[in-house]
Amino acid sequence: MTLPTNNAGHLTIGGVDAISLAHQYQTPLVVYDVALIKEQITKFKRVFEEQAVDYEVSYASKAFCSVAIYQVINELDCHTDVVSGGELATALKAGFPAEKISFHGNNKSIAELEFAIKAGVGVIIVDNFYEIELLQRVLREQKAKAKVILRVTPGISAHTHEYDQTGQIDSKFGFDLASGQADKALTQLLADPQIKVLGLHAHIGSQIFELGGFELVGQKLMEVAHSWKQKYDYTTKVINVGGGFGIKYTAEDDPLAPEKFVEQIIKAVKQKALEYELELPAIWIEPGRSITGPAGYNLYTVGARKDIPDHLSYLAVDGGMGDNIRPALYQAKYAAVLANEPNAKVTQTVHLAGKYCESGDILIDKLALPETKPGDIIALLATGAYGYAMASNYNRNPRPAVVFVENEQAKLVVKRETYADLLKLDLPYK
Ligand code: LLP
Repeated sequence: MTLPTNNAGHLTIGGVDAISLAHQYQTPLVVYDVALIKEQITKFKRVFEEQAVDYEVSYASKAFCSVAIYQVINELDCHTDVVSGGELATALKAGFPAEKISFHGNNKSIAELEFAIKAGVGVIIVDNFYEIELLQRVLREQKAKAKVILRVTPGISAHTHEYDQTGQIDSKFGFDLASGQADKALTQLLADPQIKVLGLHAHIGSQIFELGGFELVGQKLMEVAHSWKQKYDYTTKVINVGGGFGIKYTAEDDPLAPEKFVEQIIKAVKQKALEYELELPAIWIEPGRSITGPAGYNLYTVGARKDIPDHLSYLAVDGGMGDNIRPALYQAKYAAVLANEPNAKVTQTVHLAGKYCESGDILIDKLALPETKPGDIIALLATGAYGYAMASNYNRNPRPAVVFVENEQAKLVVKRETYADLLKLDLPYK
């Protein structure tokens, strides 16, 4: 893997020296190359435009949520999806138009629904019967209207980590198709004059490499659209096929480009529309990881080292499971380089350890590196999805700062937490 470097031989991110970023903003530091985010979105849009389909690219902001990212997504005229009142508040604070927001979740609270309806959120992705009841209550109280999309469980098991599967029959998300739950939900929603049903949603999981599952989800949703047309004369205007397009983390990964998955989904949907003589619905996608994942870098400073005779050494950095839980939680694999000299000759293999008080806090189990010394900077690659988003204050470590780089300029977009931030919610007992 050859990474871009400057005259000093340092790794550059979006044309900016990674070592300077680490020194200026301290580490651990999360850096996004904004051009890569924009490029991926443009590629998704191009596929739809080439295929002449009505579409929306809705960024799944659970992958990385901050005011700045919502601003970038909005600039590109995309939609976004939120899964909590907190994400919704952040999107609104960023000036994201409420009508371009979809609200997801398998247990939205009444307070969250009240907030969403009051804010004028574009679509509520309805997940279960209890939610329909709450939503109807909120709509009556606020004398408001809502557009909804019904989330169904398509019965497709994606080949990914078990925690990342969501489409299989026994998933906690969405209405079951086979037992008639989805039909019952549709009739209930259609009977409500304050609710407009836009269509259907399914999401089969995350970090998926196989095309088959995505084709199936498109086909399955069209089958449902067909049966609803026949049974209820209901026209599905939108099918939302979720996200889940797998990305490359390490040299061993060899996924298709994310937009290729979308191309296949479009083909599958078009083919079914022809077969069933249905009006082609708009196709919405909800990618998270493929938009922000490859654009993110986590920078760490090298500290302690433990050498053990006849065993691999541990090389510890100043972050770890608090800023990236994925290796510990999902055995997720990452690639990393010595940012001071990414293309220098590799001379050692180490366990790249974090600083947290757990043996499982290993960022990379076996990492080949050139010689390192304390103070060097290590860059983990493709950390931009579900890294900072899942960060915690475990061991009372402050969460890192986040910097956006674009046009060779760096901008701090999330401040590093301070000890005062960590303490601000604590109250004395005595
Ligand atoms: N739409 C829905 C309804 C979802 O549940 C998700 C992800 C997405 C879209 C976006 O999927 P993506 O394109 O990012 O794969 N924390 C885990 C991933 C959890 C994904 C949850 N849902 C991880 O770090 O692997």
